[in-house]
Amino acid sequence: MIPLARPVLGDRELELVEAVLRSGQLSLGPRVPAFEDAFARRLGAAHASAVSSGTAGLHLALRAAGVSDGDEVVTSPFSFVASANVVLYERARPVFADIDPVTLNLDPQAAAAAVTHRTTALLPVHIFGYPADVPALEGLGCPIVEDACEALGAVHRDGTPVGARGHSAVFGFYANKQLTTGEGGMLTTGDAGTKARVDSERNQGRAEDMGWLDHDRLGFNYRLSDIACAIGLGQLERLDGLLAARARVAGWYREALGPIEGLELPCPDHDGDRRGWFVFVVQVPRGADRDDAVRELARLGVQSKPYLPAIHLMSLYRERFGHREGEFPVCEDVAARSLALPFFPELTEPEVAEVARALQTVLEKPTVPGPGTYRSPS
Ligand SMILES: Cc1ncc(COP(=O)(O)O)c(C=O)c1O
Repeated sequence: MIPLARPVLGDRELELVEAVLRSGQLSLGPRVPAFEDAFARRLGAAHASAVSSGTAGLHLALRAAGVSDGDEVVTSPFSFVASANVVLYERARPVFADIDPVTLNLDPQAAAAAVTHRTTALLPVHIFGYPADVPALEGLGCPIVEDACEALGAVHRDGTPVGARGHSAVFGFYANKQLTTGEGGMLTTGDAGTKARVDSERNQGRAEDMGWLDHDRLGFNYRLSDIACAIGLGQLERLDGLLAARARVAGWYREALGPIEGLELPCPDHDGDRRGWFVFVVQVPRGADRDDAVRELARLGVQSKPYLPAIHLMSLYRERFGHREGEFPVCEDVAARSLALPFFPELTEPEVAEVARALQTVLEKPTVPGPGTYRSPS
């Protein structure tokens, strides 16, 4: 089976992790600031804080932006569920706005229309590594928290790397990401006050100048261990190669899948915006059965998955906010047809060709209505 994702770890990470294990300092040690500094330098961000996950980073970023009870946060319904869940953590309300059909990111006009006097923050998601139109959102005058969990290596059209515009931006280091620490995340910001607050809140609300057991605010355990930071340092050293390998695989996919009629591929870079390749997600042709395609691909030895479902149509969000089909038509259409294919730096050109052949075979198969399924004759 060709898997969906596979992390690339090597001797350098082993060497750095071994040094941590031998040092005896597994947490709150020197690798944490070393990883933060190297990450901030790489992006050109003023500050970076390592956290235990992308979700943890987004939670702390929203708190630092002042989001609390009853506030509204305008965000994309086409994302991994964590970007909306973090708003609920603070008893605020995620207000969804539809996405742009090309970039699949929050549509700035739809976001502007969703802003009310209760809006405390905008939370754009750089989905599938393509830069969200943050410059346009900056014109709306609200604090911005960027979900950059999928977007390491992405660059905005003005040349600014995603995560270096000065807003709080959060990267994720789960095992399928461009850079992995197994689990983990990094919050970048241009604001020293945000950095100080995040560093305290990730560490149980401990103030910088206080002893271990004195805490001056509510905090969490959202720390990243020295072991994880050592892996991150090793990954960072080879990040250029990892990103280039992903871009190369994406190029092979574009060529191999181009001839399949009706199949929609990830948008190419345009207007100077550059994607940091994370996943290769296609949208199956209208009328094709995406879920059947997943099953048939598995039968042919290719792992794939629906990616991503619309957040507002998940049970929690339907039940809590009364969301229904038809509210965000672009997102719903994309979500119903989206299919993630195997994508990782070590995927070979012949494997990409095999995936493309399998997908072609699956999509050419006539769709047979399942038992109890009514298909209109049109
Ligand atoms: C868009 C997006 N937001 C948030 C997250 C959450 O990151 P983590 O799994 O590190 O908590 C992810 C990770 O999968 C993601 O893809």
